[in-house]
Amino acid sequence: MKAVAVKPGTPNSVHIREVPEPKLSDIPNGRGVKVKVLKVGVDATDREINEALYGNAPDGDDYLVIGHECFGVVEEVGEHVKHVEPGDYVTCTVRRPGGSIYDNIGRSDITSEEVYYERGINLLHGFMTECFVDDAEFIVKMPLKLKHLHVLAEPMSCAAKAVQQAYDAQRRLQVWEPKVAFVMGAGQIGLLATLILRLRGLEVYTMARSPGPHLKQEIVDSLGAKFISTSETTPEELTEQLGKRPDIIVECTGSSKMAFKSMELIGHNGVVVWTSITGSDNTVEIPADAINLHWVLGNKLLVGSVNANFRHFELGIQDLALGELSYPGVLEKILTNPVDGLDNYQEMMRLLVEEKDALKVFINVADE
Ligand code: BGC
Ligand code: ZN
Repeated sequence: MKAVAVKPGTPNSVHIREVPEPKLSDIPNGRGVKVKVLKVGVDATDREINEALYGNAPDGDDYLVIGHECFGVVEEVGEHVKHVEPGDYVTCTVRRPGGSIYDNIGRSDITSEEVYYERGINLLHGFMTECFVDDAEFIVKMPLKLKHLHVLAEPMSCAAKAVQQAYDAQRRLQVWEPKVAFVMGAGQIGLLATLILRLRGLEVYTMARSPGPHLKQEIVDSLGAKFISTSETTPEELTEQLGKRPDIIVECTGSSKMAFKSMELIGHNGVVVWTSITGSDNTVEIPADAINLHWVLGNKLLVGSVNANFRHFELGIQDLALGELSYPGVLEKILTNPVDGLDNYQEMMRLLVEEKDALKVFINVADE
């Protein structure tokens, strides 16, 4: 079968190739699920993998099949699989367990090992192919009526984890009733985090550099949040205008400069969640004394969040469902750039690299 792959270590090596088709029996104990891939989304991680900044091939292979945001339909299940059946729409988690205690309790998303295994990213082949097989433990059912949001399930799982981690960590305060949120960045994660925080009743300000009107602003505003162009209003000016500081900041700009800037903005007892994966080696100057002083005097908290486990996928899917009911028709606007067929992988990469307004590039791999 066809698959889109890269040669890790070689920049711009994306290509199409023949790979062996997996079988249900590849997974022991009747726990296998075979999925026909319908759609695969791509993000900055895929771009960096193709730039050879990130990603490794599985042991024994010199190529890595890419794609970690998948949506498909179940074709076949092993005898011990109960939660999905042929015909169900599904997505699949990305990380696979290593050996730490967290991996053993189903929390490979917080593995304490240096090496992590992620399908389509690191040491395991991904989903940008015609079909895949995996253990039922990693297959997440998508409700029929969310079919049109397909590849958003995986980015949503990462946003859901990030917000959930912040709320979990804030139990340190005994009472925490957040009112104001800043979301730094209005890419896919920023928009999905905006939704999650709105569904929790917060007053949300979502920031990006370029002034509207544009699609990002339209989506943010339709979610009942407020879009702020930081080239028009700096985040400091915003806190002055509001007369208050945020209780939570979700940082997802992809810029470490903004990550540190967030630390200057957060209010007392507040929590900052960092989700950007910054692969370069930029340095910035920061007002370290002031940050440190206010950090301590304000009992502030910084949490890093990556990846998502099965439970976060479920949480994310629940919020997609609630989001559809609360703000009908808004979320699908994130799915900006479809590309038809695996053969058009070059166009997919081009859009990912060049189309600055693209919120989500994805491949329509097959019809049902
Ligand atoms: C993926 C995550 C992954 C992270 C780091 C992101 O693009 O969505 O699942 O953990 O990259 O590799
Ligand atoms: Zn991703």
